[in-house]
Parts: sequence; C-alpha cells; structure tokens
Amino acid sequence: MKFKKMEQPSSHETGALSPACQRDDMISEPGLRPMSLSEYIGQDQLKKGLSLFIEAARRRGEPLDHCLLHGHPGLGKTTLAHIISRELGVGIRCTSGPVIERPGDLAAILTNLQPGEVLFIDEIHRLSPSVEEILYPAMEDFQLDLIIGQGPSARTIKIDIPRFTMVGATTRAGLLSPPLRDRFGVLLRVDFYPVKHLQEIVGRSAEVLGIKIEDDGAKEIAKRSRGTPRIANRLLRRVRDFAEIKAKGTINREVADMALKMLEVDEKGLDRMDRQILSIIITRFRGGPVGLDTIAVSVGEESTTIEEVYEPFLVQEGFLHRTPRGRMATDKAYKHLGISKEE
Ligand code: ADE
Repeated sequence: MKFKKMEQPSSHETGALSPACQRDDMISEPGLRPMSLSEYIGQDQLKKGLSLFIEAARRRGEPLDHCLLHGHPGLGKTTLAHIISRELGVGIRCTSGPVIERPGDLAAILTNLQPGEVLFIDEIHRLSPSVEEILYPAMEDFQLDLIIGQGPSARTIKIDIPRFTMVGATTRAGLLSPPLRDRFGVLLRVDFYPVKHLQEIVGRSAEVLGIKIEDDGAKEIAKRSRGTPRIANRLLRRVRDFAEIKAKGTINREVADMALKMLEVDEKGLDRMDRQILSIIITRFRGGPVGLDTIAVSVGEESTTIEEVYEPFLVQEGFLHRTPRGRMATDKAYKHLGISKEE
C-alpha cells in the first residue's frame, strides 16, 4: 500500500499506517507524540513562523502553502507534519519518496486527495525524476499532466486536482532539485535540541508513560541524547527498565548514569559506533583524512547511515571534520578517547 488516510482528529494513531507514518518510533506509545504546536517543546523560531502561516491560511480559508521540513533524523519532522494537518483541521496522507515508484502511483495519490488535505512525503529527496515531474504542475497549478496514448498519437491532457498542502521532509535539503525546492513556499529547518528542551521532553514523556523521574535524572538522559528527541525517548525507556529492576523504579541522576554506562552511552552521548568511527580514523588512518566509504567498510555499517545518522552529531560537537579529502578526527576526539596525538 502506498499510503493510508489518517482520520482526524485522533489521539491514538496506532492503526495500520503507511511506512512514512510508522517509521517514527514515537508512534508506538500513544500520547508520546505532541499533538499541537503548544504541546511541542523547543524549535521556538520554527513554531513562531509556522503558527503565523497556519493562522493566516485558516483565516483566508485557503490551504497552507507547501512546506519543506529539513533536519537530521529523529528531530520530529514527521511529528510536525501531523501537527500541521491537525492545526489546519484537515486530514493527512503519508507516503515517502522511495515508496512512490512510478508517476502513476503519485497521480493516484493526488487525484484521491480531499480539498485542503496535507500530503506528507518523507524522504522527498529520494523521489525519482519522472515522479518529480508530475509534482511540479500539481504543486504549482493543482493540475496533473496526463499522457494519453503512445507514439505519434500521444497527447497530453490536463486534469484539475483538489488544492492541497504538500509537506515534504528531508534529511538532505541539498539533494533536492532546485525546481522542486523552489515550489515550497515555507522552508522549515529543524535543529538539534539544547539540553534544556530535551530535559523538558524527557519529563513530558516520563509523565505520559507513568515513569517516576527526578529533574537531575531527566537532565542526565537529556545530556546524553545527542540533541535528538527520538534518542532521548529511547534512552528513557531503557533507563526505566534498569530503574525498575535495580532502583525501585525511580530515575535519578545516579540511576540514569549507571543505566547509560551499561548501554555504553558515554557522558557526551556517544555510543559504541560513534567511538568506533573515531577510533578507526585515529588508529588505522592516523587521524585522517579518510573517505566515507573506507570508514563504512571498516566499521561494517552503510555509508549513508554513517553520513546521516552518526556524522552530523560528531561534526556538530567538534569530534569530526569533513574536508574535501575526507573525514578527520579532531583534537577533541583524541582527548575524548584518551589517545595521544603522535606528531
Ligand atoms: N516528543 C518528541 N519530540 C517532542 C517535542 N519536540 N515536544 C514534545 N514532545 C516531544
């Protein structure tokens, strides 16, 4: 199935959802995903702009302009797409770039939209060029160009489709073709979260899940969550398991620290794979520069996973440099791993 209509409004989005909707692992816990902008913690600039555009569209009785969300995995792009549809009071249909194989698949989705609905396409940078072409007139003029027949007798007919709001999400805004990027009126960048906001998110999730947690426990989890709510929520669940068995169920700083040590998540939030990546660059390649594919083979992980999941945080925190000749470990990486730099 390419997509599934989501009924609005529902606080229990646990039915058979499309891959794009299901992928967000917050969905496995009803209530964990914030349902409105007012419940959504952090990303204040983004929320300010978005709420204004939504309010203006509502007052005019028009669909919201097409929105492009970009940011690293786990920062809440899917959650925001659902919030946009909810705040607009319209339905949402979810799909993702790699799932739409042929232009006809997208044409079927577009012709079945209800007026004003949100069409959410995750990983939109992975749409094939032939599918992308269908999107241009659909986004710009709410029209589909259909080719009827083949060879010299083939002709194009235009059919109208309902006015809709496209919400695209991507981890790689730079990979979007310029014509597609230009058709989004609202560009929304989702950043890594500061500890303060992640601590609030952990506190809120603990309340929803009925987990007893002290402020310093939530802060410890937040500090070690790589600026990413999805990781914070995942660590919270694992620390809860530890607390239930070893600490009468309450999470405080000490319990969180013990649990995270057991999970091999260090005080900077690096896990075993992060440390392995840095350690290989340092010990096998004298600190770099070394190519991404070589690193990937050495640690036994996909290049794209390293590039999209591990590297952004390592770069942001100053453990890794990306240079035109390859990746390099920084002095901070040597220090963190306790390896001295031979000159
Ligand atoms: N859960 C995950 N991300 C969240 C956010 N930004 N606000 C509130 N709860 C969340």
